[in-house]
Amino acid sequence: MPVGQILISSRTLRQRIKELAREITKDHQPEELVVLGLMNGSIFFLSDLLRWMNLPTILETCRLRSYRGTTSTGRVWGLDQLQGDFEGRRVLVVDDILDSGATLNALRDALAQRKPRSVKIAVLLSKRVARKADVKADYVGFEIPNTFVIGYGLDYEGKYRYLPSIHLFEPEGEGPVRGCAS
Ligand code: IMP
Ligand code: MG
Repeated sequence: MPVGQILISSRTLRQRIKELAREITKDHQPEELVVLGLMNGSIFFLSDLLRWMNLPTILETCRLRSYRGTTSTGRVWGLDQLQGDFEGRRVLVVDDILDSGATLNALRDALAQRKPRSVKIAVLLSKRVARKADVKADYVGFEIPNTFVIGYGLDYEGKYRYLPSIHLFEPEGEGPVRGCAS
């Protein structure tokens, strides 16, 4: 079974996401926020954040992909599907993990063309890697080492998203996967 040891437990996730939700609420209250969730990875983080933020929000989602297996391809698919009215609005982009930065960089450029009033980025996880694209998240749940992780929305080839905690990914017969973004 490639599900390795727990890196972040469901209990710790819940506590930290509640803190982030409070911080985002404080920074935006009382204004309406368009929350753009990147699917499928952010699904649990997004729904927990939304229910714990005390703000009027409009939910949009967009399905983007940049990974094959445990490797970032540096290319991003799905931006042509970006829908929603962002003009003049405050937007919060929500993603599961910031790795090479390619996904959020491409999305930020695509959003800028829609003339939002402001764009902030919230990620549950941020890998300690040299980013290929110059992107910084405004809200970060946890900094993690440069290793591949699964669970709580994060997948390996579509699998393991359902796990309530975040686990290290271990291919059969090997140790954890390292250095996947380079
Ligand atoms: P980036 O474009 O390289 O920053 O990669 C971001 C996207 O790659 C995330 O939204 C995830 O979908 C995927 N990703 C990066 N690292 C991991 C990981 O460790 N586990 C699962 N998905 C990952
Ligand atoms: Mg993703």
